[in-house]
Amino acid sequence: KVVAVILVGGPTKGTRFRPLSFNTPEPLFPLAGQPMVHHPISACKRIPNLVQVFLVGFYEEREFALYVSSVSNELRVPVRYLKEDKPHGSAGSLYYFRDKIMEESPTHIFLLNFDVCCNFPLPNMLEAHKMHGGIGTLLVIKVSAESANQFGELVADPITKELLHYTEKPETFVSDLINCGVYVFTPKIFSVIQEVFLLREDRVLLHLIMWLLDLSFRSLPSDFVRLDQDILSPLAGKKQLYTYETTDFWEQIKTPGMSIKCSALYLAQFRFTSPHLLVNGDGKRKATVVGDVYIHPSAKVHPTAKIGPNVSISANVRVAAGVRLMNCIVLDDVEIKENAVVMHAIVGWKSSLGRWSRVQADGDYNSKLGITILGESVTVEDEVVVINSIVLPNKMLNVSVQEEIIL
Ligand code: GDD
Repeated sequence: KVVAVILVGGPTKGTRFRPLSFNTPEPLFPLAGQPMVHHPISACKRIPNLVQVFLVGFYEEREFALYVSSVSNELRVPVRYLKEDKPHGSAGSLYYFRDKIMEESPTHIFLLNFDVCCNFPLPNMLEAHKMHGGIGTLLVIKVSAESANQFGELVADPITKELLHYTEKPETFVSDLINCGVYVFTPKIFSVIQEVFLLREDRVLLHLIMWLLDLSFRSLPSDFVRLDQDILSPLAGKKQLYTYETTDFWEQIKTPGMSIKCSALYLAQFRFTSPHLLVNGDGKRKATVVGDVYIHPSAKVHPTAKIGPNVSISANVRVAAGVRLMNCIVLDDVEIKENAVVMHAIVGWKSSLGRWSRVQADGDYNSKLGITILGESVTVEDEVVVINSIVLPNKMLNVSVQEEIIL
């Protein structure tokens, strides 16, 4: 039996997604019309003998309750949300729920970060892992040397694929091979984490003595264990960890800009995995559709609108005549009036765009104002132009703005 654990973090991690994380936890923000975490969950469906998917985080239970029950029904695989009372770190949170995770006595445990976008080659990783043996196998990918330092950099044996060396976000370049945040472990991983805990507890005692002697110290709480620094680094080169390299797409989703890019990657993947979710130009909607587009069945799109590429339109959106949409995410209940244009932008829930208005950006997905973001319930009046800007919820724009954050 196999189980999968997806680390969804908590509200403190969502600050980089402001103002979009004000009312939706980042893992539920839609990419290609599906909650971000839906993509790894549906990938888990392809793992042979999968019995359970756990989402582990420190969001309130009620934030995930509805999603968890609907996805369990839809995919016919039990999905459960497990809430930590506080952050325990990426390995600490896995350990915290060890009894629940081991309830079904799985032979293998997948561990996935929620904020990565890839095709999750999980069955292949499991095969590779069984071949190499050891405690775990990491999904890895080659990236450009300039970008590698944002990730865990690693060295693997080119023949045996053993993980030889691992450094988390190093200051000086180690390798362009990086950790994708997707792993498969045997239950032995729990004893490895436990060892780190025990060492930490010893250190806590030492620190207490130092404190009593009035010596200063800085340390992490003893139940906070990071998978990368505390587990992968020390275990590298001990014939316990192996790597599986993907040559397919992989991105990290740390900014709203990246969510537009990742939406495009998932929409392109739908061509092979879920073509029924894509709208094509000859569909019953009859709007002109260019490239990959998702439109929720409840949305109303006028036949003279032109949509795409890379557009996802959520529930109850109304798109009027002559509207042009490209590279954008339009969230629930938005109204876009006649001849408005939206490009490289995210339009927040219940917003309204006036006639001939433009909401756009230059599309530099890595820069802060490279996309335009409208928070929830923003009104852009007729003919107003919003370029490379972030607008906080409930604002009414009656003059055009460029490169501004409207608080
Ligand atoms: N439940 C829970 N509790 N989840 C957590 C906690 C926690 O206390 N801390 C982190 N996470 C989750 C995050 O939500 C994310 O899914 C994952 O653990 C990793 O987050 P970080 O520890 O903040 O690391 P990172 O995202 O900066 O980098 C990691 O992922 C990269 C790939 O995306 C590292 O493992 C890098 O080496 C790796 O390249």
